[in-house]
Amino acid sequence: MCGIIGVTGEADAIPLLLEGLHRLEYRGYDSAGVAMVVEDQVWRARAATARTSVATLAELTAGAPRGHAAAIGHTRWATHGSPTEENAHPHVDCTGRLALIHNGIIENHAELRAEIEANGHTVTSGTDTEVMAHLIEEQLSGGATLPDAVRAVLRRLRGSFSIAVISADEPDTIVAACRITPLVLGLEDGMTLLASDIPALIGHTRRVYTLADDQLAVLTPGALSVMTLEGEPVEPEQRTITWDLEAAQKEGFEDFMSKEMHQQPTAVGDTLLDRRAVGGELILDEMRLTPDDLRGIDKVFIVACGSSYHAALVAKYAIEHWVKVPVEVDIASEFRYRDPVLNERTLCVGVSQSGETLDTAEAVREAARLGAKVLVVSNVVDSSMARAADGVLYTRAGPEIGVASTKCHLAQIVALEVLGLYLAQILRTQPAARVNEILNAMERLPSLVTETLARADDVDDVASKLTDARDFFFLGRHVGFPVALEGALKLKELAYLRAEGYPAGELKHGPIALIEPGAVVVGIATRNPLWEKMLSNVAEVRSRGATVVLVADDGDEESAAVADHVLRVPPTSPLLAPVVGVVPLQQLAYRLARLHGHDPDRPRNLAKTVTVE
Ligand code: M6R
Repeated sequence: MCGIIGVTGEADAIPLLLEGLHRLEYRGYDSAGVAMVVEDQVWRARAATARTSVATLAELTAGAPRGHAAAIGHTRWATHGSPTEENAHPHVDCTGRLALIHNGIIENHAELRAEIEANGHTVTSGTDTEVMAHLIEEQLSGGATLPDAVRAVLRRLRGSFSIAVISADEPDTIVAACRITPLVLGLEDGMTLLASDIPALIGHTRRVYTLADDQLAVLTPGALSVMTLEGEPVEPEQRTITWDLEAAQKEGFEDFMSKEMHQQPTAVGDTLLDRRAVGGELILDEMRLTPDDLRGIDKVFIVACGSSYHAALVAKYAIEHWVKVPVEVDIASEFRYRDPVLNERTLCVGVSQSGETLDTAEAVREAARLGAKVLVVSNVVDSSMARAADGVLYTRAGPEIGVASTKCHLAQIVALEVLGLYLAQILRTQPAARVNEILNAMERLPSLVTETLARADDVDDVASKLTDARDFFFLGRHVGFPVALEGALKLKELAYLRAEGYPAGELKHGPIALIEPGAVVVGIATRNPLWEKMLSNVAEVRSRGATVVLVADDGDEESAAVADHVLRVPPTSPLLAPVVGVVPLQQLAYRLARLHGHDPDRPRNLAKTVTVE
């Protein structure tokens, strides 16, 4: 995820761009750059100094020429190509007269790159973005106008994009377009703007337009025209923004947690995007660890804390099933204080949204000291854990601001399962066709999560009946167990209610003594190999007076028959089901927090990144 901004009709655009980039930093900040047309040329500045990229850019642009025409800016969250200056946007074509910024992922970039290199273009970055600049250059050299050239190129792209393009030959024009990733346009007297989101435009205009998928906009000073990629004119829908800055950053949601829960389909989709070669096999070339590095692995250790630990527990079931190697999952704060048995044939995976959690960072450091190969699954690009590891696999959830992890948790499960399939491919423990089949099912997860999110009213309804409850037990078996742990953690940290996550089969060995009328049992009853046994455990608590809430697949009437309340989810295969099944539990915790008067974005006693032991 990156942030983009552009303006035409403002002769001193640099302060506006820098302010906008600063507001867009939550979308990533591993590099930042601007480009503008000035005196018949494109002037460009870029900085790649991680957290300080926008500040460094401010220094670089202090002496920039004024009196410019169209101007664009970008703040990057790296996907393709490391976070270096040469990979920073804007990218230019071979003539240097055209500059382009992009948010998204171009899935067919490799074949397009081969094509333009064969045509004699020099590609200077490792990004998936730069190919677009050269393809547009080819169209322009054939006589096309800038809008026509961009339209022709966009029709060839697979993947997601919001882009903005400027050219020294059409100095006042910005051509912008989007597919899947968002783009808003703004209009003010004599000035036209674009940005990835509304907060970047606040203070400059309140008149905004949202560009729909596969629409292209031509921005000139104080004017805007929109068309489809086929060139059909479109009347964009106008909105007047009355929000202040903080409300705008939440994009109309009541809080960041709601916004981030709604971003989950995108987080899952982006984490899966562009992981497959044309032949269907998995390629994880950003990971740094090569297939040869992984071929000798005979054991996997996963270390993590909190929600990241729960994602790791889900992955244990998947990796052991697909790869047939033992997987140990450890709470990071415990790991290095025992005598873990690891060696050079062990793959130690540290899972951390922030990539800065001290317990996890120290655990992977200890694993490296013991000779293990260390892979980090991080959401923050270039985090200290990502830098120190032998390899890194990024979840592409975009920055998570709510203290309670939601979209990153889902993205972690998906990333770890992709890793499992990759190991299965390398170690040949699953046939290629089976790996493909599972990946196809994973690609359907974003729409299943969307469907589940849309049922929030049903969850709210159940939550409203549980406002007097004080004791919650979350039970699950198989992969339902980590989902239960995550549901309980969410309820504790957001609603401050006592909640135990337990493997349902273990209840009879002690905790069942706590079950009495008034207790609420939330059971994960989505279909998995232990579903029937799970229902027997549910019967045990029901007969002792507990109120039973079950997360159950659509159409599963047997589960519904033994529950007081049912939270329905669309079914998927058992090892993928946690990605969908945890969503109503997030919503339940969220709603109970609200009903008890707590702010879900600022839970008491907690911090987003925990850098103490
Ligand atoms: O940044 P990390 O993934 O390493 O953070 C780990 C935990 O601190 C984090 O998951 C925490 O448990 C969240 N508040 C859970 O919602």
